Amino acid sequence: MRVRLFFISLAAFLGGHHVVASADTQAIYREHCAECHGKERLGAMGPALLPQNLSRLKQKFAIDVIANGRVATQMPAFSEKLTEAQIESLAKLIYSEPKKTPSWGVRDMRASQVTHFKASELSDQPIFEADLQNLFIVVELGDHHATVLNGDTFEPIHRFKTRFAVHGGPKYTRDGRYVYFASRDGWISKFDLYNLKTVSEIRAGINTRNLAVSYDGNWVMVGNYLPHNLVVLNAHDLTPVKVIPTRGDGDKTSRVSAVYTAPTRNSFVAALKDIPEVWEIPYQAVKGIPDFEPRRIKLDDYLDDFFFNQSYSQVMGTARPLDSGSGGAKVKGGLVIDMDTGKRVAELTLPGMPHLGSGITWDYQGKTVLASPNLSSGEVSVIDMQTWETIKTIKTEGPGFFMRSHELSPYAWVDVFFGPNKDKIHVIDKTSLEIVKTLQPAPGKTSGHVEFTKDGRFALVSIWENEGAVVVYDANTLEEIKRLPMSKPSGKYNVYNKTHYEEGTSH
Ligand code: HEC
Repeated sequence: MRVRLFFISLAAFLGGHHVVASADTQAIYREHCAECHGKERLGAMGPALLPQNLSRLKQKFAIDVIANGRVATQMPAFSEKLTEAQIESLAKLIYSEPKKTPSWGVRDMRASQVTHFKASELSDQPIFEADLQNLFIVVELGDHHATVLNGDTFEPIHRFKTRFAVHGGPKYTRDGRYVYFASRDGWISKFDLYNLKTVSEIRAGINTRNLAVSYDGNWVMVGNYLPHNLVVLNAHDLTPVKVIPTRGDGDKTSRVSAVYTAPTRNSFVAALKDIPEVWEIPYQAVKGIPDFEPRRIKLDDYLDDFFFNQSYSQVMGTARPLDSGSGGAKVKGGLVIDMDTGKRVAELTLPGMPHLGSGITWDYQGKTVLASPNLSSGEVSVIDMQTWETIKTIKTEGPGFFMRSHELSPYAWVDVFFGPNKDKIHVIDKTSLEIVKTLQPAPGKTSGHVEFTKDGRFALVSIWENEGAVVVYDANTLEEIKRLPMSKPSGKYNVYNKTHYEEGTSH
């Protein structure tokens, strides 16, 4: 206490309101923020306030949030209690690295674990009527909720609160009963779609990218930016099973960009951001618990955005050189790696920043083609997966983020996510490789992320705004059928398409 007073008076002595010594700011943080955001800024009732976690929020918006609070949330306004200078220095503080790198071990995970319902308290029969294979989960980032949507009637069945800032798509068990969410701050939640209840939760990291569920439904793997590791959880009750530090040669450790399930290989595959390796982690044991020992595939380049062929024998990857702090990527286009030999099969020459993670495949003139949007230029590349040559570059009205189709649909849809035409969606004919229609579901508002119903007859598009919507289109006539108000519906996930690894959607 005495130390703190000393620093406050020192700061006052040095320059009154304008110069705020960092120890002073720490004290203000402890007094006004720590209760909700945690002593070490790891988060508590409120979200974590670390630079990695805040990377999507511009510092000037953080200043605004601190000064004015956030309506309809528990984040209070501080403009009456703190000076402008104090608020600015608090913003600086939360965007700076803590002196000691925060750690999150198995003991922390265990302490965070919550079991809301035991298996015996839940019914094995769904408590509502609908085609269980044609449900959608819609993630609503605007107010941190998710909606279970009936994919036949397009009526919402249930809406529930998620953890703050769900990140990466929710993942289903193969039977479609359970779905797992990962949040930006590392919370993993297991939701029972039959009972419409969150059944258990655990915090598996401090800053998390995404999760994957094994094909046998026994394991969940979580990929973290902070700490640098992969965490294996028991999929039934979310108990931590193993922590795998992502360490390369020497002491070099890496953030995990994403984890995937390779269903035909009974393994997880991890994309690493800071070391030039791809890791495959088998999850089947001859007896007992698997050892989850990673097989390290060494590459001569960094790859962190992946696309697998339908049989999972090959992985295509690109690096994102423009991403903050990527380990100095050299790749301009992409690489194709054979998952068995670990050898490079081909190099893809793709301009700009192809978004392979959102790539899709279809049959075109008797061969399989891969189409991928581009994050930095207005084009879609269509690649022959046998020769790895680009057979067509389709010009669009701006860089896109998501591309989707369905085996039974004649069209592939791609959004224009960035730039002045962010309100447009192109519909591409899969036979002619031409844009046949450009939709503008809500002029002036960002639209993006398309997902199909189980049978491919309808396509759902998001209006990506706090007062947004999901717009349902007839996927053949391209006419609007219905518009459902939603709060920044960032993504929607169809049970059948996801659990059957449909060729037109990301896995
Ligand atoms: C009573 C609890 C509480 C207190 C005290 C509090 N916050 Fe918050 N804060 C929250 C909650 C809850 C949210 C999430 C709001 C939402 O849902 O968007 C939040 C959000 C934020 C965000 C936005 C984070 C993001 O990723 O969007 C920032 C920045 C922030 N708080 C900073 C602070 C600072 C700095 C202080 C101290 C001056 C503080 N908060 C005090 C509860 C609190």
